[in-house]
Amino acid sequence: MILLVKLESLDYKPKPIEQNFANDEANYPVTGEHNNHKVRAEGKERMDADGKPYPTKFGIHGTIVGVDWEACIADGACMDVCPVSLFEWELNPGQSGTDNDKKLEKGTPEYEKYITDKCDPIREAECIFCMACESVCPTLAIKVNPE
Ligand code: F3S
Ligand code: F3S
Ligand code: ZN
Repeated sequence: MILLVKLESLDYKPKPIEQNFANDEANYPVTGEHNNHKVRAEGKERMDADGKPYPTKFGIHGTIVGVDWEACIADGACMDVCPVSLFEWELNPGQSGTDNDKKLEKGTPEYEKYITDKCDPIREAECIFCMACESVCPTLAIKVNPE
């Protein structure tokens, strides 16, 4: 099973996205903008599900559709189910969906920086709040905030 292989190959344990991230300015301050959405807590050291620091210091991308890049392991199921196709792979621009993520070789600078490709909510304003993405993500990396 692909998911199991991906999780087993990690030397950290992804933690579900903080449900209240958009209202938790102390822990998730806005640190930048990317593809027309806000990014929070980028560059901050955060802890994984085992209480150890994540190997990367990514933030949460998006507000209406928040994707925690520390928790995203490039599963791709969110993209397959989204009826309005609002996600795209960060490292494979223009591409989305299972197995279309850029595969990173261990030991390369890109691997050290990203570990896996990341899911970017590039058109979050188009969300129709079906919530399918939240429920299919194996690491619970997505939190949708209906307006
Ligand atoms: Fe798509 Fe998730 Fe919104 S599946 S429509 S981004 S709730
Ligand atoms: Fe990432 Fe979860 Fe989607 S791991 S690619 S946010 S299904
Ligand atoms: Zn982004």
